[in-house]
Amino acid sequence: MDPRLRGDAVIFMVENKKEGYGSLFHSHEVEQEYKSLIHKIGYYDHWYHAEDNPKISDSEYDRLKNRVLELVEIYPDIATKAAVKVGVAPSSGFKKVKHAAPMLSLSNVFTEEDVTDFLERVRRFLGLAAAEKIELVAESKIDGLSCSLRYENRRLVMAATRGDGAEGEDITANVGTIKDVPQSLPEGAPDILEVRGEIYMTRSDFAALNQKQQAAGKPVFANPRNAAAGSVRQLDVEITKQRPLRFFGYALGEVSEPLGKTHYEVRAKLARFGIPETPFALVSSFEEIMNHYNMILESRSGLDYEIDGVVYKVNRLDWQERLGFVARAPRWATAHKFPAEQAVTKINTIDIQVGRTGALTPVARLEPISVGGVVVSNATLHNEDEIARKDIRIGDMVVIQRAGDVIPQVVEVLVEKRTGAERVFEYPHHCPICNSLAIREEGEVVRRCTGGLICPAQAVERLKHFVSRLAFDIEGLGAKIIEEFYEEGLIQSPADIFKLEEKNKTLQRPLQQRDGWGEKSVANLFASIEQRRSIALNRFIYALGIRQIGEATAKKLAGAYGSFENLNETLKQAGNQQVYDDLLNIEDVGPSVAEDLLGFFAEEHNQEVLSNLQSQIMIENYEAPAALNSPVAGKTVVFTGTLTTISRAEAKAGAEALGAKVAGSVSSKTDYVVAGEDAGSKLKKAIELGVAVLTEDEWRALIGR
Ligand code: IVH
Repeated sequence: MDPRLRGDAVIFMVENKKEGYGSLFHSHEVEQEYKSLIHKIGYYDHWYHAEDNPKISDSEYDRLKNRVLELVEIYPDIATKAAVKVGVAPSSGFKKVKHAAPMLSLSNVFTEEDVTDFLERVRRFLGLAAAEKIELVAESKIDGLSCSLRYENRRLVMAATRGDGAEGEDITANVGTIKDVPQSLPEGAPDILEVRGEIYMTRSDFAALNQKQQAAGKPVFANPRNAAAGSVRQLDVEITKQRPLRFFGYALGEVSEPLGKTHYEVRAKLARFGIPETPFALVSSFEEIMNHYNMILESRSGLDYEIDGVVYKVNRLDWQERLGFVARAPRWATAHKFPAEQAVTKINTIDIQVGRTGALTPVARLEPISVGGVVVSNATLHNEDEIARKDIRIGDMVVIQRAGDVIPQVVEVLVEKRTGAERVFEYPHHCPICNSLAIREEGEVVRRCTGGLICPAQAVERLKHFVSRLAFDIEGLGAKIIEEFYEEGLIQSPADIFKLEEKNKTLQRPLQQRDGWGEKSVANLFASIEQRRSIALNRFIYALGIRQIGEATAKKLAGAYGSFENLNETLKQAGNQQVYDDLLNIEDVGPSVAEDLLGFFAEEHNQEVLSNLQSQIMIENYEAPAALNSPVAGKTVVFTGTLTTISRAEAKAGAEALGAKVAGSVSSKTDYVVAGEDAGSKLKKAIELGVAVLTEDEWRALIGR
């Protein structure tokens, strides 16, 4: 052992967002951190060994070393990925598996007001009277990593990580070693049963594991969640087996028969099948909710497991079904997060980052500090107004806070700690990357680089977005590699990705011959690129990185236009009033989004990029997820007036679930107008245009409800 690795190992925390573990990939920041650590250690080694003149204390040095060991433990492939020369990791080693039912995430609430809003939304959606009770199951939200267990004929056949919610990674062998997870279910359990739950480690097991690790000269983990994540993702199952992992179930995926009428009953059944459950309470008023929340919050520090909030779930399953989902989270549940954790640290400097749409974002580089179990070294400063408003200066001591997975923020400056050495930050009026003018349009808080296509920062960020998880999701083409390939001119525009294999054949020094690469890793990279030559329309639209077009809006656009040809031909026509009106009829699309979309498709260079891409890939037509034989699939429906039997929100969600598009205004493209009581101008317009008008009852008859 390195003589300097004596003494108390200092526990250093892993900085990463939780989802990073869910997907089992490490982020660009982690790679950067790894590289910077290796660099620093090399530097200090030189002064210690060659110059006999140590530059840091032994414990500081130990801390760096431990952190490297910890990163390697959690991300066994990091050394390959972060290799100083271009390199690509071999594929993560876990097989991908599609989830039979999507694995969802949860919306968050933080304040009492948010809780009331959540309850009100549920009440409104279901059209419940104020006096009607909404019973909720309040469950502790244990901090670990989510996992889906699939039982067929009462035997565990598959365990998978969440991944992007639609597709995760096969960790069956690893989960097979967790004692909490039954390998088989008793008689009476359904033939198909998917249990969603959390893998975690208790605090005491975590402490014991760290002691063992330390005694064996191995790296220690920062917190129980990292320890759990790091233990599950071992390719060597024998290692996982020695780790004290636990599991609890909190929801169902696919099931061949119902387990009850309420979530409460489902929990009881799961418990009977031997699935451990999370502590819970039944609550049915705001007061009961808050009492329970406060009770859990107070008991938090005394628990043997880490929790980061309380999850509320509507108990009645028929209500859950009616409430359904928005994007990736159920309407029938939410997570009430514990208050943000704060810490005081120093701003070492302020950097400007340039995003894919040219937005300049100031980032405070902090003296690294642990905030609630996670080391934070960057905080967003949002924009120049924010810096001015809080009078944030370089060198200031500041209070930072971190809540859940949100990027850490600076809460306030400790003005009394100023020494006079602090410097006011001069906000640049030029892009720090391409030096183009950066301007702030009237009424906007964001300053943007005007370099557009010539700005390498924007180009690189767009490429990173293009290959990211919810877009093309190309494994092996991480942020770092995109940067390197961009600089070298190998990939400068999206189509180049698909020409890479051909291009590589013409290189003097093909990738295979470079440090950090081998035949296998290059073959893996090309294979994952090949796999993505065919892509779903919604992913494709999202991948384009158009301002304001997130995953959910991309899906809506895909649904509205059906094919890429249709979308492109239509949206090219900026200035066409009908095109504009139709756009505004799409949910999530307001005037500002419409402008960004039309602007994007009208831009000549973008058309060039699109046509280059089209010669390389196949963009699949959008398939409505709903049953295609539904009588309203693909139809555009407008609800107007007061509906009497269900709420407007539920009617809309119901229509969408059947594959219909719900629009806000009537046009010649509308198929049906469902007119409730006191319908006004929309009904009139429908009659004028000769659009079919249905009563609420006729609508229900049409959809068979
Ligand atoms: S329910 C539709 N219940 O929190 C089901 N999630 O922030 C969605 N989690 O991905 C999840 N405890 O990994 C649920 N009692 C609980 C939970 C819980 C922890 C995790 C889970 C989820 C994440 C969302």
